[in-house]
Amino acid sequence: MVTSEAPRLTLDTLDITDSDRYRDHGYPWAEWDLLRREAPIYWYQRPGFEPFWAITRHADIRYISAHPELFSNSQMLRLNTAQKLTQQQTEREFQTNRHGGDPSDPQDFIWMDPPEHRQHRGIVARHFTPRVMKTLEDHFGELAENYVSDFADKVVASFADKGADSAVDVVHELSAKLPVAAICDMGGVPEEDWEKIFEWTEAFAGQDDPEYWEPGENSFQATQRVVGQWFRHTQGLIEERHRNGFGEDLLSDLLQAEIDGRNLTPDEVHNYFFLLLGAGNETTRNAITGGVKALLDHPEQMQMLVEDESLVPSAVEEILRWTSIVIQFQRTAVQDVELRGQTIRKGESVVLWYPSANRDEEIFEDPYKFDITRKENDHFAFGGYGEHFCLGASLARWEMRSIFHALRPILPQLEIAADPEYVISFLHVGGIKRQMVRHRPA
Ligand code: HEM
Repeated sequence: MVTSEAPRLTLDTLDITDSDRYRDHGYPWAEWDLLRREAPIYWYQRPGFEPFWAITRHADIRYISAHPELFSNSQMLRLNTAQKLTQQQTEREFQTNRHGGDPSDPQDFIWMDPPEHRQHRGIVARHFTPRVMKTLEDHFGELAENYVSDFADKVVASFADKGADSAVDVVHELSAKLPVAAICDMGGVPEEDWEKIFEWTEAFAGQDDPEYWEPGENSFQATQRVVGQWFRHTQGLIEERHRNGFGEDLLSDLLQAEIDGRNLTPDEVHNYFFLLLGAGNETTRNAITGGVKALLDHPEQMQMLVEDESLVPSAVEEILRWTSIVIQFQRTAVQDVELRGQTIRKGESVVLWYPSANRDEEIFEDPYKFDITRKENDHFAFGGYGEHFCLGASLARWEMRSIFHALRPILPQLEIAADPEYVISFLHVGGIKRQMVRHRPA
């Protein structure tokens, strides 16, 4: 009898950089497992990519994240194909033509190293502390209840209309709502524009997906259109602040900031605001959607959450670990560094694979078990606790807690109606484009 076996995975042939594969088959867990086991600091050379060191263990990602003096953010930030990097460079030139500045200046503060990084991040950091989140809790908690209730009504109405053929999209009808509302509110974006911000973020993140192109456009043109619309919108808000005075919002802080005796340039204001609005709504939305799917895929875990609201915080941490929606960030060695017997030479790049760290068997007991009661959960969903640790971590945690708290009574009435559709933006965020669910009759 002839059996067809999958080809054996080897270090020489494994592939962790094919974004079509992420989109069609999910994350390359088996490949990361092999790397962690056999070559945790692995020199990865494949056509279409500049070679890099693939870093897959928790301890090494923590070490690199904690040493910005050895590993810089200012040269390469995210791994991508050489072709895509050229496109991004051209986009950056377009952008600086539009609002001034030099294309070789750091695009935003993620591209900076200390001490400059800390000064620039510090302009807005006060808005994101756990203490500030606490003051917003009630207001956003109410929003979460309303969004979940609207979503539940849609699920029931769709079922009444179409029965077993009914389907409601979690992404657009639920997950996107609170993250957009929260960051736009903090940014001082008027409520009537929130939907547009969401659409632009979705189109920007999905720029390689023809679904987000207008007829006759390619990826580059679609991106130019979206960034142009977004730029004009921000420009309008800036002019409004200059006319009517500043408020207590992120944009007002950016406009009034002074660093070393100067204000931010228009290029910096636009890019920082774009970073905050984009990061604020693209990431958390995917974690919420992935969390709904994980709970529906694990009914016994879902039932525990439904019965015990005190599990919401640990469930959110497990969802963050489980979904690991940020795939990688990149750093460049500023001097030769020895790690696990390998010499990383000055100028070579290292890529930190966070989902791999989140399945590291040296850190997590039974890492492939989705367990909302997990006690020790030192995950790297928000990065490896270094200089660039996610600025919005408290906000994202708070948003997810209020959504999953409000969802508890609804979850048992839902079932998955179709597999998720993925959009992988820049090999960087594991985005979910659509996740259809339907009402599950009792
Ligand atoms: C579930 C949601 C989120 C996830 C998984 C996530 C993940 C991450 C990761 C992995 C990093 C890089 C950390 C590093 O390099 O060490 C990061 C940085 C960042 N995140 Fe988030 N993030 C989320 C939500 C948010 C939100 C709501 C905001 C709100 C503005 C935000 C803003 C930022 C910013 C500004 C940075 C750059 C920080 C710096 O360079 O100093 N993120 N995030």
